[in-house]
Amino acid sequence: MRGVLVTFEGGEGCGKSTQMRILAARLRAAGIAVSELREPGGTAVGEAIRAILLDPENSDLVPVSELLLYEAARAQLVAQVIEPALAAGEVVLCDRFYDSTTAYQGHARGLDLDRVRALHEVATGGLAPDRTILLDIDPALGLFRATDSGADRLEREDAAFHARVREGFLAIAREEPARVRVVDASGSVDEVAERVTDALRDIPLIRRALGGS
Ligand code: TMP
Repeated sequence: MRGVLVTFEGGEGCGKSTQMRILAARLRAAGIAVSELREPGGTAVGEAIRAILLDPENSDLVPVSELLLYEAARAQLVAQVIEPALAAGEVVLCDRFYDSTTAYQGHARGLDLDRVRALHEVATGGLAPDRTILLDIDPALGLFRATDSGADRLEREDAAFHARVREGFLAIAREEPARVRVVDASGSVDEVAERVTDALRDIPLIRRALGGS
């Protein structure tokens, strides 16, 4: 049986990495094989691309290069890791996927949305997540959490940029309500974890693992 791809999306400091870890642990405890991945990264080439993208020294990166680098990292991850894991029947959890590119490079940087989406298709070969959890939070609160240990290149963008990222994600959720579920990321880690499982319970493989709790 083919596995399931669940992606976690949201602005800086929304808590998606923490929530993904919690879900992965719960699924593994129920005997499910889980892959935990992050974008950009997850492959040797992808991690090298990640270092370029997040390095504050690369402040001269033009928006189109930025877009292509994210898509290149994604193409590696899909071909080398995600497709084989899905073929093996695993639950694949991915910290960011193409909705981040639509929100950051499309909505926030202002690149043409149709061209950006066309590149997702090229990079993924048409693969779409079965479910996307959008952890929504006020950017002021998220950035406060995220930059505690120093800001990377994208975290250094101004408040208007991060507001556009949030609006971009919410626009994607409005366009694809069956795939993308908006989860309020404010509150305690446990409260948010409960909301995340509620947003996944209708997926058969996950429902069996999480039970009715
Ligand atoms: P992270 O903070 O979740 O590790 O993500 C790395 C940064 O990369 C974050 O600032 C969001 C940004 N990003 C994009 O701008 N476009 C993308 O396609 C992806 C995957 C991430």
